[in-house]
Amino acid sequence: LGTFTQQRHVTGYLLFSLATAVIGSLQFGYNTGVINAPEQLRSFFNSTWMERYGEPISQGMCTIVWSVSVAIFSVGGMVGSFSVGVMANRFGRRRSMFLVNVLAVIGGLLMGFSTICSSYEMVIAGRLVIGLFCGFFTGLTPMYVGEVSPTPLRGAFGTLHQLGVVVGILIAQIFGLESLLGSEKLWPLLLALTVVPAVLQCILLPFCPESPRFLLINLKQEEQARKALVRLRGTEDVSKDLQEMKEESAKMALEKKVTIPELFRSAAYRQPLLIAVMLQLSQQLSGINAVFYYSTGIFESAGVKQPIYATIGAGIVNVIFTIVSLFLVEKAGRRTLHLLGLGGMAVSALLMTISLLLKHVSVMSYIAILAVMLFVAMFELGPGPIPWFIVAELFSQGPRPAAMAVAGCCNWTANFLVGMSFPKLVLCGPWVFLIFTAFLILFFIFTFIKVPETKGKTFDEIARGFSGAPPPTSESTSAPADAPTEGTTSLTIDAPS
Ligand code: GLC
Repeated sequence: LGTFTQQRHVTGYLLFSLATAVIGSLQFGYNTGVINAPEQLRSFFNSTWMERYGEPISQGMCTIVWSVSVAIFSVGGMVGSFSVGVMANRFGRRRSMFLVNVLAVIGGLLMGFSTICSSYEMVIAGRLVIGLFCGFFTGLTPMYVGEVSPTPLRGAFGTLHQLGVVVGILIAQIFGLESLLGSEKLWPLLLALTVVPAVLQCILLPFCPESPRFLLINLKQEEQARKALVRLRGTEDVSKDLQEMKEESAKMALEKKVTIPELFRSAAYRQPLLIAVMLQLSQQLSGINAVFYYSTGIFESAGVKQPIYATIGAGIVNVIFTIVSLFLVEKAGRRTLHLLGLGGMAVSALLMTISLLLKHVSVMSYIAILAVMLFVAMFELGPGPIPWFIVAELFSQGPRPAAMAVAGCCNWTANFLVGMSFPKLVLCGPWVFLIFTAFLILFFIFTFIKVPETKGKTFDEIARGFSGAPPPTSESTSAPADAPTEGTTSLTIDAPS
């Protein structure tokens, strides 16, 4: 019966709307993966320098320009993700997605025309703008997906964001091959290609509904919300969904929109906020992007003959295991998969260390490949997809945008730190992955103690699980924070003080 009701919820229109939103995730993945063609960029910096100053660029200067072009993407991401709350509340979810695409067009064109204009500054500016764009989407897509999905499938559909990301990375890895677009002539096109999905998404978005939760709870447009729900669910009987939203809306009347400072001040949000932030950190400090940014080098130093193909292999494993997670997440639950993923990654990181230490033994290059693949697979079981969508689950409509902004910004900041420090950490030699092992163990313990299961619960049930009562308005911490909550015992963790 469960499967039957679940299937009834899934209409073509819902899938179309999800797919349209997920184009934003694909863009994030593509722009994360695309910058792996450093050699071409370096020689472009050099030739521009020659043209301007009549002498070759120094090694040091070239590295600076290169590092800035890589890192500025994450700086844009931090700003974009942090601004997502204000934008999503002001323009709505759908219109925000539409507007933000302007950034992809600007950024793509800047990078695409950089060689014609002989300007490496345009690459840097383009990367910044594209980072801003991706930052917005790491909030907007999970928010929209979480809000239009039926409760029993929120996790599976939430994983679609990560699926978009990993497919984007894989496309970038393949297009980036020198025989395709990663060549000396074509790399500007590789970077500019991001304009195409942006235009496509703008064409499709007008056919998607605004989030019914936004219509009903934020705009009080009940009739519009009902219409959107009827189309999404494919049935006239949407009273259950509407009822649930109205209950949330009634609480919102007390709660209002929550700004970021209020989010930090209110005791009721302390637990979910801590969990949201720690999960983002567990995703990034697991070291996943050390692999995705530098895998070719890692494989090379482990003695692998054709490292670029091993890198693409990692991209393929990445996609496969995200799909596995999509099917498991509503059965096994978020918490279990996250724990399994972190534990598995810790073991793989150890294996990686051993293979790097013993690289003179010839079989070890295979073990290194195996360890990297296992690391990536375990990541995608839980730590990849779950942190992105669980923030939308941990908060109700009022605080959700602000919480997503804070969580997203933490994610991007940690991403930036790992990306910047890994080349220096590599100086520790083969031991570098032990640092990530230590982090992984810490986050495993945290998840075990603090993270509740959110599978199958409505947003309201989850929020009540944390506070034991409706989240307070600024003055009402009078509600007994530790009152037991019916049916949500597994969610009731430390009462906020
Ligand atoms: C997650 C991370 C991103 C990483 C990707 C790898 O989406 O947020 O930083 O590159 O997974 O699959």
